[in-house]
Amino acid sequence: MLKFISLAPILLAAPMLVFAQTSNVRFDAGGKVFRLDGGGVSYVFGVNTRGELQQLYWGGRLGAADSFPQAKPMPEWASFDSSYNNTPQEFAGWGAGLFNEPALKVTFADGNRDLVLHYESHVETGHGFDVVLKDIARPIFVTLHYEMDATSGILARSATIENRGADSVTIEQAVAAAWALPAGHYTLNYLTGRWAGEWTLNQEPVLPGARVIESRRGSTGHQANPWFAIQAGDADEDHGGVWFGALAWSGSWRITVEQDQLDAVRVTGGFNPFDFGYVLKAGEKLETPVFYGGYAQDGLGGASRLLHRYELEHILPRTQATAGQAVPKVRPVIYNSWEATEFRVSEAGQMALAEKAAALGVDRFVMDDGWFGQRKDDRAGLGDWYVNKEKFPRGLKPLIDRVHALGMDFGLWVEPEMVNPDSDLYRAHPDWVLHFPGRPESEQRNQLVLNLARPDVKDYVLSFLDKLLAENDIAFLKWDYNRNWSEPGWDQLPPAEQKRVYVAFTENLYAILSELRKRHPKVEIENCSGGGGRVDLGILRYTDEVWPSDNTDPFDRLTIQDGFTYAYTPQVMMAWVTDSPHDLEHQVRVTSIPYRMLSSMQGSLGIGANIANWTPAEMTTAKRLIVAYHEVQPTIVQGALYRLISPRNGSEFSATQTVRADKGQSVVFAFIHSTEKGHSFPTLKLKGLDPAAQYALTSIEGKVSAGTPAAASGAWWMNHGLDFDNGFRGDFQAAAVRLDRK
Ligand code: DGJ
Repeated sequence: MLKFISLAPILLAAPMLVFAQTSNVRFDAGGKVFRLDGGGVSYVFGVNTRGELQQLYWGGRLGAADSFPQAKPMPEWASFDSSYNNTPQEFAGWGAGLFNEPALKVTFADGNRDLVLHYESHVETGHGFDVVLKDIARPIFVTLHYEMDATSGILARSATIENRGADSVTIEQAVAAAWALPAGHYTLNYLTGRWAGEWTLNQEPVLPGARVIESRRGSTGHQANPWFAIQAGDADEDHGGVWFGALAWSGSWRITVEQDQLDAVRVTGGFNPFDFGYVLKAGEKLETPVFYGGYAQDGLGGASRLLHRYELEHILPRTQATAGQAVPKVRPVIYNSWEATEFRVSEAGQMALAEKAAALGVDRFVMDDGWFGQRKDDRAGLGDWYVNKEKFPRGLKPLIDRVHALGMDFGLWVEPEMVNPDSDLYRAHPDWVLHFPGRPESEQRNQLVLNLARPDVKDYVLSFLDKLLAENDIAFLKWDYNRNWSEPGWDQLPPAEQKRVYVAFTENLYAILSELRKRHPKVEIENCSGGGGRVDLGILRYTDEVWPSDNTDPFDRLTIQDGFTYAYTPQVMMAWVTDSPHDLEHQVRVTSIPYRMLSSMQGSLGIGANIANWTPAEMTTAKRLIVAYHEVQPTIVQGALYRLISPRNGSEFSATQTVRADKGQSVVFAFIHSTEKGHSFPTLKLKGLDPAAQYALTSIEGKVSAGTPAAASGAWWMNHGLDFDNGFRGDFQAAAVRLDRK
């Protein structure tokens, strides 16, 4: 409370100064109110009369002169819910009768578990604030970091927890941020899945109680993704208020959406408290992940468009070639060998595939699993990162040289965090894996997880990757991670500290990726975990693209890609065209090359088929469509995405549209699952165009209806709409057009 008194001179010097600064970050000492404005969003919180930090507003942008009085804690509700519990705190310690999700829960060395955090001080940091809280009696300090993007209004929040006491403190639970929504009726959107079935969008009402989405697996997980969107009662894909957030953490995480007994809705997200128990020694700090949050007025579509732009501009890494550029360059069209050859890679076989890939117009040739150690199948070799001499007697150089001579660059698959028990590495260092001494080590896919938290393992992984990249002309790594944790022991540390593995593993992963990029600034990296098992804004800071799913069936991909784009930009969404029928779990769906190509062209295109078997006609069609794709790729992967017709819920049709940032170009994709009862494809009323501009239409694949004008205004395409030819019918049909401003 003393601190408040010390603010008095500022108030006296400028008693009428309410939010009068010009930056988008303001602190009103009189009201003790912090305000951040960016894009169409305002976020406001303040120090309440008790000294807690309390959220005051999060939503559409407020008037520049609007002000807030000092926050008052919410009253007690009967005798069962304390004022402390009911007040929407920015970062509530577990103490003083808190029943809602705490932001921070600790156990002190003397057994005290009560923590009540009050405002201590703050500094402005350019685009935001660092606000320091402290327990009312003990030297636990928490610095809350706030940084708002001026364009999108997306707010990055995280916390640094510091033990300035003499004894260790155990952190039982720590979130990055707690977000409060105004009272109302809401629908929660979240993404779930499984291996080869990721990115299912779930929509359900927010009801009393808590909906927990989480991973306890040591990594992000296929099963749930650390993203949420909450629609106001009347909002839909295109209209209405949507609050959304994404957690930047690739280890075990948890997001809790809670509606309390007073109908208040709060969202917390951070480290998963399950088995957490992080011991913070005297003088130590713990940094939480960043929890990004935003608000859109134009529905779920608006929310994802804001996120996409933010990811392109602020999250994704740059290479030497794109350093300083507003957005990263579009992804090269790749060829990947996995579905063609699996582990049966050889110099001659890969060279033959490379010839055909080059003939298609592919930019990058990637050799997948099978090239190293004693790798014949998934039973051996992981950990032994030397070239297999039987398969590549002359090493990798002749293949890489051939790929370069064909006009492509070269990429290679690695799975750095894993080891097969049948490997030289495991035989030399059995203690390097996650394990509890004397307990069985559970294998999955015949492999164990290296304990990346160990400094020696971290050094080993960094040095073999560094050597691989230094000795070979490699432009790209596909970084795979094919299982989740079991027996997460770290017996190098005293028992009380072993749970640090949950933080240290992921921090070391990020550190390796970061150092590797520093040492090899031209190299690009794909993040893969048996498909989309580790996709989040944490790893996307260090990786240029992701592999969303091992399911490459082009029809399944429509819903997979649809779900993916709620949270992540199509720029990172790699999508390969593979063989038909696609052989996933007895799936026998037969689809044409154009259908498969167009399905994949909605993201960053790749080819993963055994093109050795493609007919000349198939090669010609694919080549034509790769040329067409290259011409419009920036619009597709970096433009504003409109999901015109969702493929979800067994929809007969689906369609997407993307519009380049300057509105000068747009691309439309349309898909038919199976024409039912003679239905025509619906008229597509396009979105996001300049109504006054003239746009010429060109077909990429398929025909539009005979009466369609060759060129018309944006108003025409948006109001009258686009019709496909009457013959656009049947099973697994696809069409695409582009519109170019004249
Ligand atoms: C899982 C990946 O998702 C696949 O694309 C492929 O790289 C295999 N691993 C290789 O083992």
